[in-house]
Amino acid sequence: MPRGKRSHNEVATSSRSPTASTGLGLAGCDVTEANVKKPSSIRPAEGRLAVLLPGLGAVATTAIAGTLLARRGLEKPIGSLTQMGTIRLGSRKDARSPRIMDFLPLAPIGDVVFGGWDIFPENAYESAVHANVLEGRHLDQVKEELSRIKPMSAVFDPAYVKRLNGTHVKKGKTKADLVEQVRDDIRRFVTQNECDRAVAVWCASTEVYLEPGAVHQSVAAFEKGLLANDPGISSSQIYAWACLKEGVPFANGAPNLTVDFPAVWQLAKERNVPVAGKDFKTGQTLMKTVIAPALKARMLGVRGWFSTNILGNRDGEVLDDPGSFKTKEMSKLGSLEVIFQPKLYPALYEELYHKVRIEYYPPRGDAKEGWDNIDLFGWLGYPMQLKIDFLCRDSILAAPIVLDLALFMDFASRAGMRGTQEWLSFYFKSPMAAPGLTPEHDLFIQLKKLKNTLRWVMGEELITHLGSEYYD
Ligand SMILES: NC(=O)c1ccc[n+]([C@@H]2O[C@H](COP(=O)([O-])OP(=O)(O)OC[C@H]3O[C@@H](n4cnc5c(N)ncnc54)[C@H](O)[C@@H]3O)[C@@H](O)[C@H]2O)c1
Repeated sequence: MPRGKRSHNEVATSSRSPTASTGLGLAGCDVTEANVKKPSSIRPAEGRLAVLLPGLGAVATTAIAGTLLARRGLEKPIGSLTQMGTIRLGSRKDARSPRIMDFLPLAPIGDVVFGGWDIFPENAYESAVHANVLEGRHLDQVKEELSRIKPMSAVFDPAYVKRLNGTHVKKGKTKADLVEQVRDDIRRFVTQNECDRAVAVWCASTEVYLEPGAVHQSVAAFEKGLLANDPGISSSQIYAWACLKEGVPFANGAPNLTVDFPAVWQLAKERNVPVAGKDFKTGQTLMKTVIAPALKARMLGVRGWFSTNILGNRDGEVLDDPGSFKTKEMSKLGSLEVIFQPKLYPALYEELYHKVRIEYYPPRGDAKEGWDNIDLFGWLGYPMQLKIDFLCRDSILAAPIVLDLALFMDFASRAGMRGTQEWLSFYFKSPMAAPGLTPEHDLFIQLKKLKNTLRWVMGEELITHLGSEYYD
């Protein structure tokens, strides 16, 4: 990928951490999984950053509009850890808690240039109006900038997303041709917008459920599969492959296979590119991964957990197709099994019945309702119930995640981190982890892991919460 000018001034990280370079054995803080040797320097965030979003629908346009409003100081970027979060450094007595954006050399949101692909040619303003998430009082203020964001034509095959039929779609004899076309798009976008580098976050529709097959096992097999139009290679995999080939970090906001198979891990390693996924953790699963660890912490048993959702946006329409629903269902089902560890606690969780439903219900639009019924039991087995009714807004919860992932993935890339970025599990319903490793779902362990990884990369002491030094 042709890059703009890059300074060779690098941000050096401090080497203060006494425990930083080896496995740490901290509960939930195994930063050796960050798939990176601790960098001695981090390339500075100079120049413009292209944030490329396959899928300019509800989530993407809400993320873009919110970022544009925030950078003009018209609204606060609420929900964004990179923009609003702080990080404690050192001892509690030091009272050092800088903002994450001041602690890390993150790209400032003023340097971000948004672009993307969609199967419909509407610009980001038209698409945002169609999505009906943000009100006119917000969209009108950034109408001009949004209108300038016109999607590049998409890689799309209705075999993988059954409920959509777009017109703004690339043609190619083989899937390998399509990879080359996306690579050309990326290069052109970066050059035309005078960007220094790019990241991609998948914000397009959920594809049908696919298991990794022989074609996904190595770079060579995948490249052969691209030439042979292997049906195991979906549109999202084509974008991801093109991005990796261009050295562009790729985060996957949907539950699709996309970057979660050996060929991608191999390519990411070869090209030194970070990848992350999958499926933004926004409403119901966010609550699940907070409540379940609390019940387990108190050794309370759970017999049943029934989760249902009603939503009426285009995502809901796509998920009405059984193939796409299966992908989402698998993604939503994983968290409880991992958190409760029924093999370790058979008396408490062996009989757990976990069911997830998603119902397309147009009157609700993007204002989803996620409803959970939990049948739990306590002392002497006495039953209790817990009901959660989360009247949320899907894209309002997902938008800050898009921004955070774009900025953290760019940071990771400049810090030389490659392959699966498990420290970003915090953002995902179905976190990717190294083969054979159980992914971490507990939101607070994920947050600790994320912040300890940042401390570690920046050469700060890791925080164990032991605190015994205060009583010496
Ligand atoms: N909003 C949330 O809380 C949330 C949470 C987790 C995951 N997600 C996932 O994020 C994704 C986006 O959600 P949304 O509500 O914005 O959906 P949406 O339907 O509004 O937007 C998706 C966009 O992707 C486009 N698209 C489909 N296939 C494409 C392709 N191959 N290339 C380019 N564009 C393509 C569609 O035309 C549409 O504009 C979905 O996969 C959804 O499951 C959303």
